[in-house]
Amino acid sequence: TISLKKRNFLKLLDFTPAEINYLIELARELKAAKKNGCEKKTLIGKNIALIFEKSSTRTRCAFEVGAFDQGANVTYIGPTGSQIGHKESMKDTARVLGRMYDGIEYRGFGQQIVEELGEFSGVPVWNGLTNEFHPTQILADLMTMLEHAPDKKLADIRFAYLGDARNNMGNSLMVGAAKMGMDMRLIAPKAFWPDEALVSQCQAIGEQTGARILLTDSVEEGVHGVDFLYTDVWVSMGEPKEAWAERVSVMKPYQVNQQVVEATNNPNVKFMHCLPAFHNEFTTVGREIEETYGLKGLEVTEEVFESANSIVFDEAENRMHTIKAVMVATLGE
Ligand code: CP
Ligand code: NVA
Repeated sequence: TISLKKRNFLKLLDFTPAEINYLIELARELKAAKKNGCEKKTLIGKNIALIFEKSSTRTRCAFEVGAFDQGANVTYIGPTGSQIGHKESMKDTARVLGRMYDGIEYRGFGQQIVEELGEFSGVPVWNGLTNEFHPTQILADLMTMLEHAPDKKLADIRFAYLGDARNNMGNSLMVGAAKMGMDMRLIAPKAFWPDEALVSQCQAIGEQTGARILLTDSVEEGVHGVDFLYTDVWVSMGEPKEAWAERVSVMKPYQVNQQVVEATNNPNVKFMHCLPAFHNEFTTVGREIEETYGLKGLEVTEEVFESANSIVFDEAENRMHTIKAVMVATLGE
């Protein structure tokens, strides 16, 4: 039997396929229990700190709602207002918060920061996104894929990730696919392929699990026959605004549009995105980039984003159920 009590959740590389399955199954049970009005609270009286050095809608709300549903209290510590970073090191912060809180979420910059928090706090630490990895997002993505491919196991699923494949989403989806024995195609300009060391690590995992990881710069080659098309923003949080100029021109051929959907040759192909997405002019950044570069939609077009096969809001909802599962598994009574 699997127990993740007192464990950190810092990156999927630290977990076995069976442990990842366990978290997804627990999330599915918690989702059903909530919908049926029979959720049991396992975090009553627990105090949880939520550190956000970058912005968030989904991750923050998922941790808060998940904690409240389970009877825990939360403290939100935003990008300004605490001593973190400028006046106090993460090692000291970890030892202070560990004396007051039962669990700590961290979203911010380098993966080594959340690893340090995990090492010195003495309580479970959960990665809510770093530059390198976004592991809670992958749990939600895998859960959503299973819901939308009810006749399949993860190992039967084929999906393509297009765009910036060396960011936190490209990296963590690749690890998730390798661990769960999936068929994944990373489709990106060569300069945006994940770090070679991580690719070899994933290939080695794939030899054990049966995963097939393909890296290609050809959209045609990569998307053929997939069940899911996945993309993410071309410029991530923490990158300079100037990155857009170069990024838009190299990423343009990797936009998920109707042509790409048709190239899958699968009329049932589903569209996924971790969100937030730039698919129209209704955000300040989206409008500025569209006006400057004359594009309609950036990483995805409005047509695909709003299509019947887009499952992005199911995916967003599942952030809550999976994050709740991580808290319950590591901290629940
Ligand atoms: N997908 C995701 O992590 O969204 P937020 O940045 O809103 O938390
Ligand atoms: N790659 C994106 C993911 C946002 C959820 C970023 O880091 O900004």
